[in-house]
Amino acid sequence: MTNILFVASEAHPLIKTGGLGDVAGSLPVALQSLRADVRLLLPAYHDAVARAGRLKTVAKLTVPGLGAPVRILEGRLPGTPLITWLVDFPPAYDRPGNPYLDSLGQPWPDNAMRFALLAHVAVTLALGRTRLKWRPDVVHCHDWQTGLVPALLAPKKSRPATVFTIHNLAYQGLFPHESFTALGLPASLWSPDALEFHGQLSFIKGGLVFADRLTTVSPTYAREIQTPEFGSGLDGLLRRRAGRLSGILNGINGEEWDPARDPFIAKPYSARRLQDKLPNKLALQKEFGLPGETQTSLIGMVGRLVQQKGIDLILDTLPGLMHRPLQLVILGSGEASYEAALRAQAARYPGRLAVHIGYDERLAHMIEAGADMFLMPSRFEPCGLNQLYSLRYGTIPIVRHVGGLADTVVDAGEANLKAGKATGVVLEEKRVGALLAAVDRALALQKNTRRWKQMMRTGMRHDFTWRRSAAQYLRLYLRLVRGKKR
Ligand code: ADP
Ligand code: GLC
Repeated sequence: MTNILFVASEAHPLIKTGGLGDVAGSLPVALQSLRADVRLLLPAYHDAVARAGRLKTVAKLTVPGLGAPVRILEGRLPGTPLITWLVDFPPAYDRPGNPYLDSLGQPWPDNAMRFALLAHVAVTLALGRTRLKWRPDVVHCHDWQTGLVPALLAPKKSRPATVFTIHNLAYQGLFPHESFTALGLPASLWSPDALEFHGQLSFIKGGLVFADRLTTVSPTYAREIQTPEFGSGLDGLLRRRAGRLSGILNGINGEEWDPARDPFIAKPYSARRLQDKLPNKLALQKEFGLPGETQTSLIGMVGRLVQQKGIDLILDTLPGLMHRPLQLVILGSGEASYEAALRAQAARYPGRLAVHIGYDERLAHMIEAGADMFLMPSRFEPCGLNQLYSLRYGTIPIVRHVGGLADTVVDAGEANLKAGKATGVVLEEKRVGALLAAVDRALALQKNTRRWKQMMRTGMRHDFTWRRSAAQYLRLYLRLVRGKKR
């Protein structure tokens, strides 16, 4: 049995802001069903504790520089048998709302301390320096919030192996030099070969430089981040570590995202009962105050309203889109300027464009089930889960040819259609014209009911659950563990 300590800053259903939460809440469960012994370590955020159910204190530890002890609260990830450890230090984590941002959308001013603390606790557990008997063979860290873990573990003798997964290279955890001093990190880490990034402290570099293995969430993104266009200034480092870097496609939680038994949607349906998708379209139109027109194409979009997701492109394309016979529903939250611009556009096109600003799990499921097509014209996309949910729900994705979108959606070109492989519409460029052309292509395809249904079914029947990808992670862990013993 391999013991894995899974360290992340969010995990569904305890706390989630995006796809990382989905992955950290489902991959460990999938690994466990492959007989790995996994423990999930998360900060004890106020909301996570509230949702966690029964918790008991299983360890107390002292972290240098903190006036009070840190407690480890043990529970189960709700709805699963996964043992979950919450790092309880109220001054750092007991505050309501978003794990990273305050109510004005600004990063919490003490984020460097908060995630350094998570790292110190992970390292203490990894080295067996608590009264807990369990010790990991591998520590699997995710994104910048956990970047210090591999850096702090690297010099230790008889330490577990480390894996660092990049879910998004654009978020790097950059802080001023004073934070480095305040955190009391070993002086040797202040170097361009370690945590320094152009005069700043970079948390993500801790993972990128020091982890034994690097992964990212799709094979295409693994290649893209080694280029200046997608490398966010770290492509040189990633090229140097290319031999240790690979891409493993994300899976989805096939129980929560299943149109045949989704409690949030108006009527369950499946590839065999496609006609039952229609009541979901009507329910979605009603929910968003759009006319209940069954013949009008309904396009959905769900996501963080940030540049990555191509929101500016959607805004620029709106005048053209609104000339087409279609309705558009958008659910999202994020940058205030995008939120305001989308609200203003919705007021301009009543009955055609409906926007809900906010985070709403139920509406996300309703959109996946009710829309005919799903729009995801991202500038970059490490993997993307929404297009996978769309495929599972027979909602044809319209995506850009980047990252995980390129790896998961098969374009409806003539050859792919003939071969019965097509599942969506892929656009190559990030221009208004290209997006309009892709939407026009989708609208034209939808008129050919036979082909359209074939595309829906092809996507719905594809297995995007964790089965294959979790096995890939497990192989990677086993190789690392065997390599260390030799
Ligand atoms: P990212 O992680 O970059 O945000 P993904 O496509 O990987 O993108 O994952 C996004 C996840 O967050 C999906 O589960 C999606 O449904 C969810 N999500 C994003 N925004 C919202 C929202 N406003 N309301 C509900 N769910 C949302
Ligand atoms: C990141 C990426 C997204 C990916 C998710 C989970 O937030 O933006 O593409 O699906 O992480 O790995």
